Parts: sequence; structure tokens; C-alpha cells
Amino acid sequence: MAEAVPGLEVEVLDLAEINLPFLDETKPPMYGQYDHEYTKAWAAKISEADAFVFVTPEYNHTYPAVLKNAIDFLFTEWNYKPVAFVSYGAVSGGMRAADHLRTLASVLNMFALREQVLIPNYWGGLNEQGEYQFTEEQDKAATEMLEKLAFWAEEMKTSRAKLG
Ligand SMILES: Cc1cc2nc3c(=O)[nH]c(=O)nc-3n(C[C@H](O)[C@H](O)[C@H](O)COP(=O)(O)O)c2cc1C
Repeated sequence: MAEAVPGLEVEVLDLAEINLPFLDETKPPMYGQYDHEYTKAWAAKISEADAFVFVTPEYNHTYPAVLKNAIDFLFTEWNYKPVAFVSYGAVSGGMRAADHLRTLASVLNMFALREQVLIPNYWGGLNEQGEYQFTEEQDKAATEMLEKLAFWAEEMKTSRAKLG
């Protein structure tokens, strides 16, 4: 769906495939001096993006450790970029996980968009092939979110250029 929104070129980054270890760099990420090739590759990947959609489940009322770990690996690569959230879980649709990510995003100098997509009890929306069927409401929310993300990605690119 994101490809259909003008101005967006999308790449899906699956943390299960990227398979980072628990953070094991010598220096804090604010230095931007990384020891490991996997950190350098992760930093290069995040650097090239102008905006993000964090897709998260909810575990015990928050987002999972694997997502926190992947975010903590880097710092400047996230800075001054917009981020939006798609969350899933049981009745809450992962709302608390997304809200906790908003706090984290502010520490990374990211702009967290208000527009988001919640997917409650997603197992009820799977078709026979096991693919999730978005409701009309979720489709509308996703389109609005992605259009805003495309707008802010462009705006913040200009701001980052001014910061040098
Ligand atoms: C340890 C654990 C804690 C969970 N806690 C919550 C929760 O607090 N709220 C919620 O809505 N769903 C909760 N769930 C349900 C998950 O969001 C749901 O199982 C989801 O499919 C997990 O995502 P994953 O399959 O990508 O790991 C929990 C699941 C697990 C395994």
C-alpha cells in the first residue's frame, strides 16, 4: 500500500532477518564510531532513509526488546526524521507499545506523527492464506498516515541539510 502513496519509495526491514545481537559496541552510538560490521551495515541502512514506519507488536503493555535493541544501536542516523507507527496485539491493538515508542522517538530527535494504524486482535482478520485483510477504517488511517509521512520526509530533509 505504501508504494501507492506519491513520493514514497519503500523498503521493509525485518529485524528477524537483520538479526542484530544484543548491543555490544564499545562506544555509545552518539559517537558514530562503530566496531562491528553488522552495526556499520545497520547504520548505513538507517542513514539512507528519510522516514520510518515502526511496525510493532505489544508485549506486556509495551514494545518488544528486539525493537528497542535495534533502535539503541544507532543515534544520529535516526535524528530529525519523521516516524509513524503501526501496532498490533490483542484488544489494545498495540496502542501502549506505540505510545512508548513516541517517548523513545523524542529522545532520538525524531518527529512522531499523530496519525497511526492500530490492529487489534489481528488473528480475526486473517484470510485463508494467512494474510491480514485491512478494514476500510485501517486503510483510510494508513493512507492518511503515509501521506503525512511523505510530506514530513521532504520537509525534514531540508531541515537536516541546514544542520549540515
Ligand atoms: C509475552 C507476551 C506478552 C503479550 N502482551 C500483550 C499485551 O500486553 N497487549 C496486547 O495487546 N497483546 C499482548 N500479547 C499478544 C501479542 O501482541 C500477539 O501475540 C502478537 O501476535 C505478538 O507479535 P509477534 O507474533 O509478531 O511476536 C502478548 C504476547 C506475548 C507473547
